[in-house]
Amino acid sequence: MKIEDDQPDSGQSGGPAGPPQRTAAHELERYGALFARRTQVMRSSAMRDLMAVTARPEVISLSGGLPDTTTFPPESFAGLMARLAHQESAAALQYGPTEGHLAVRECVVEVMAAEGMRIEADDALMTTGGQQVIDLVCKTLIDPGDVIIAEAPTYPGAVPTFCSYEADVVQIDMDADGMRIDVLERTLDTLAAEGRAPKFIYTIPSFHNPAGVTMSLERRRRLVQIAAERELLVLEDNPYGMLRFEGEPHPTLYSLDDASFVIYLGTFSKILAPGIRVGWTVAPRPVMEKMNLGKQGVDLCSSSLTQKFVSTYFADGRWRDYVTSLSAIYRDRRDVMLEALAEHFPAEATWTRPEGGLFLWATLPDYIDTTDLLARALRDNVAFVPGRAAYMDGRGGSEMRLNFSGVGDQEIREGIRRIGKVIQEQVELYSTITGAGPTGPAARRPQPAVSEPVVEARVVPLRQRRAGGR
Ligand SMILES: Cc1ncc(COP(=O)(O)O)c(C=O)c1O
Repeated sequence: MKIEDDQPDSGQSGGPAGPPQRTAAHELERYGALFARRTQVMRSSAMRDLMAVTARPEVISLSGGLPDTTTFPPESFAGLMARLAHQESAAALQYGPTEGHLAVRECVVEVMAAEGMRIEADDALMTTGGQQVIDLVCKTLIDPGDVIIAEAPTYPGAVPTFCSYEADVVQIDMDADGMRIDVLERTLDTLAAEGRAPKFIYTIPSFHNPAGVTMSLERRRRLVQIAAERELLVLEDNPYGMLRFEGEPHPTLYSLDDASFVIYLGTFSKILAPGIRVGWTVAPRPVMEKMNLGKQGVDLCSSSLTQKFVSTYFADGRWRDYVTSLSAIYRDRRDVMLEALAEHFPAEATWTRPEGGLFLWATLPDYIDTTDLLARALRDNVAFVPGRAAYMDGRGGSEMRLNFSGVGDQEIREGIRRIGKVIQEQVELYSTITGAGPTGPAARRPQPAVSEPVVEARVVPLRQRRAGGR
């Protein structure tokens, strides 16, 4: 199986349970002259590739970013759909305005207020998932060769988007407090000296996907200040902010800004269900207007049916109870995963301890390549996301993302045990070859609360384009 694929996806699928079928080289050649230049730098998302494999029932998937949709009671779902059919059948089956139905935008006002943000319904543009916001922001702002700043690692699902708009992505290291703002400032200075400024800074400040860390309040303040001083846009991607297990919530970047520089991305995927594909953005008005135009060309409007589903669901006022119950379930699963890691991962491994969200990030000894490890782990029917998927430049070779929301306690324990076993094989192989002493499981020593802080700035500007491109 190919995890990172530089070829354009053929769009063919091997069926719901089968791996995607790849186009043969000679078939590709036949159409080669017709493809747009950008198709040469398009990449398949690592998670999409993995999903085909992990759909097999025998595979324990710790790879997807899947919320546990089995927690949504089927009878509630049936009741909501019946109510929707009775009350709003025609509108639910109809096209809607590009910016979204008013009733769902009012739900957005409520969700954002729950995180301390004050907006009007008119300020929100509804989108087809939060993913579409990333695409529309790129569509609106990025010409080939423009710079985007992102975190290192970054959301693997943003990587194909950045690639297809032919952006130069500069990734800024993180530590336990999120993006290193000192490194960011130095990077901005370096870029400025070259006559370049990023079109936007992409960040996931709360319960980062994939790193599992949260940006400190001090850094949030400084980032918003830098954006204002240098007149830079920041795309704040916040799918997980409400899924906090412990600690005090921090204000969002949007709430610290005066509606000038932060583009906010929200989604119902993780607080309700990803299958409905309903997200939103709130952005400075001129940027929003361009994004609205961009959306018209993509899908005219997001699904009326699922927007109406959201507003029907919100009408009974119990959405916060569901979010609270999800947070409790995910907190327990995080704890199960942390325990299992301490028991089964080697002493040299470290991992983050997220205070919310769906993921943690593990770093293995640098002689272990997690892309190779995945191929081995899949033979034992367990999957994770290899670290390289979260970088644009091949870094992250010894890192991995582990998801603790998608499966139950027993599968988490068993999945980590299996991954631990294949890691141990590598450790033993290495110690046999090098004569280094074998190490025991991590339980034998205290775990750091988060990954080792990065000491040195490491900033790699990247050119994701074909040879000879701009
Ligand atoms: C950081 C981040 N941004 C955006 C998305 C896209 O979410 P949606 O399902 O709303 O498209 C995800 C999904 O996992 C995510 O983790």
